[in-house]
Order: sequence, then structure tokens, then C-alpha cells
Amino acid sequence: MAQKYCKYLANGMNFHVSGIAFCNKLWWNLTPNATYGKNTLEEFLKTREETLINLFKGNIPEDCSHCMYLHDAEESEISDKINFIEINHWNECNCACFYCSARESTKLKITTKRNQKGVADVFSMLKKLEKLNLLDKDLKIALGGGEPTLLKDFVNLLKFTIKHKFSIDILTNGIFYEKYIPKTLLASDNSYMTISLDCGCRETYKKIKGVDEFDNVVKNLAKYVKESKEASKRIMVKYIILEGVNDNKEEIDKWIDLCIKIGITSFFPAIEFCHSVKEPEKHVISDNVAELYQYIKERIRSINSDYTLPTYDFVEEFIKNRSYSLTK
Ligand SMILES: C[S@@+](CC[C@H](N)C(=O)[O-])C[C@H]1O[C@@H](n2cnc3c(N)ncnc32)[C@H](O)[C@@H]1O
Ligand code: SF4
Ligand code: SF4
Repeated sequence: MAQKYCKYLANGMNFHVSGIAFCNKLWWNLTPNATYGKNTLEEFLKTREETLINLFKGNIPEDCSHCMYLHDAEESEISDKINFIEINHWNECNCACFYCSARESTKLKITTKRNQKGVADVFSMLKKLEKLNLLDKDLKIALGGGEPTLLKDFVNLLKFTIKHKFSIDILTNGIFYEKYIPKTLLASDNSYMTISLDCGCRETYKKIKGVDEFDNVVKNLAKYVKESKEASKRIMVKYIILEGVNDNKEEIDKWIDLCIKIGITSFFPAIEFCHSVKEPEKHVISDNVAELYQYIKERIRSINSDYTLPTYDFVEEFIKNRSYSLTK
């Protein structure tokens, strides 16, 4: 019999700065169920067990009831293993993107120190979940944050992923080069790295990122492409269209030309959304932003049909509906 299901609610965990939650859709006011303390993990697992029992009875948490990720699924498709873990338990970064969602939601701190511990020992919790046999064999980890390359446990997390043949999505600004990233990409066909470059020149980069690291990031990207060999097709470079800053075809063309020159084959168009999603009624997606979003796709397709165009499913919805509202 079909029942309401969401993969995050049934199979997800999000280690956020303020505690453990089911998902990362924090604009839904889905506050973490367990703030970090001595028994955080155990408390979360207890809540999770009760939530799963309720889900199977057809009872959905109030915060989830209008979410676009909730859909009908057959009972046979549903497993109770954890197969998606988002790790965001620190709020340090070596960059200052003016649009950054984490600046407000986690009070992001700027630093260049590469030994950040975050607010909890997430790596130990991960090993506990492994011991409890709660991790699905196809587990996917997503590393966001803050800047993951600043984490003391970053390489340990990558090695853990490789050892278990799990997969991982690494979101990084690319300012620090980490030699374990290519090894990780080569270890699983389902692991990806995304760098949000958002521009094609140093001057625009400085305006967006607040730091003068454009040349360094481009150099690191080229090295990642080289060292990742056949896995380099899973290195995605993002362009967030930002009104009044990089919302023109000239900048987009420079970005595309530069990426092609260094061997990038995966182009990720995106739009700024975090602030607008909180107050969708106050924001509109301008014709210019919607047209540029399509422009990126069309140009990439016309250059080489083998290039890939990853997108966020909810951003596709925003563009289609010309609205930031995620409620059904
Ligand atoms: C918060 S960052 C953390 C990881 C890493 N520091 C980075 O920048 O990739 C995670 C992702 O969210 C994206 N992001 C942050 N704020 C955003 C916003 N307001 N709108 C759209 N994407 C945003 C970033 O570009 C990045 O791809
Ligand atoms: S239904 Fe939506 S809000 Fe609820 S856990 Fe799933 S993604 Fe998060
Ligand atoms: S690099 Fe990532 S975490 Fe740092 S300010 Fe930019 S978007 Fe935020």
C-alpha cells in the first residue's frame, strides 16, 4: 500500500551547527530534534525510531506536511537504514561570499586555520552509527558547512568514505587544495565535488567572495581536473546568478570559456535562493535571472552535448513557477 514518504525523514540525518535534524531544509522551521550534549546521538535515534513508527502509521510531522519532498511510495521501497548524511556542524570559512546562507543561519566566522573541530565530534558519532549497523551500504555523505577543507576531520571523513565504498558530495570553495579529494572521487562513481566559482574573472570574484583568491582557485581547479583523471567529469563548477553583480552574458561566457580551458565538463547553473525562500512573497525571480539560467543551459548544450548540466530540483521548480514558494 502506498504511503507518504520523504527520503530525508525516513533515511536522512543532518548534523547542523545547532544540533541533529532529519534534513537540511531549515527554511521549513524544522528545528533540530537534538541539540548537542552528552547523549545527542542516542536522543536523535530515539526520536527517529518514534518518527518512523508514526510514518508507517501514516502520521507526518506537522513541519513536513506541506513539503515538496513528501510523496507517495510503496512500503516495499522504504528501508529504515540511514542512507543520506549531511555534515554541517561547523561555521568557519576562509571566504566571505556576500550571498552565503551560512553567514546568517550559522553566524559564519572567517578564519584560515585548517584544524576546525566544529561544535561536536561528528566523526565519532559516524563511527557509532557504523557500529550500530545503521548505515546503508549505499550511504551518501554530503559535506557543506562552513568550508569543509578547514575541518580537522576532513581527511578522516574522506578516508572513512573510501574504506566503506560510500559516496560523498564535497562542496568547497577550492581555496585550499586537498590531495585526498581526487582519491575520493576516483574511489566511487557516485562521489562529486562542487566549486561555486560564480564568475569568470578576478574583479567579479572579489566583489562576490570578499577575498582575492580567483587565480588560486582556478589553479586548484585545474589541478583537481588533472589528478582526478576519469573522475574529473564529476567535478562540477557552479554559477549562482546574482542580481546586479554577475547577471550578464559577458560574465557567463567568460566563466564558460575559462572552465572549458581547464578541462571542466560539468556546469552547474544556480540562483540565489536562501533569503528569498524565507520570505517568498517578498521576492520575484526577474525575467533576466530566468533567461540567464536558460542561457547557461543552452550555451553549454550547444558547445558540447556530452557536457553535463546538474541543477537543483527545487531551483528548476522556482524557475518553472517563477516563484520561490516550495509549498504545494
Ligand atoms: C554554504 S556553502 C558551504 C560549502 C563551501 N564553503 C562552498 O561554498 O561550497 C554550500 C553551498 O551553498 C551555496 N550557497 C550558499 N549560499 C547560497 C545562497 N544564498 N543561494 C544559493 N546558493 C547558496 C554555495 O555556493 C555552496 O555551493
Ligand atoms: S518532508 Fe521536507 S521538511 Fe520533512 S524531513 Fe522531508 S525534506 Fe525535511
Ligand atoms: S565559501 Fe561557502 S561557506 Fe564560505 S562564505 Fe562562501 S558559500 Fe559561505
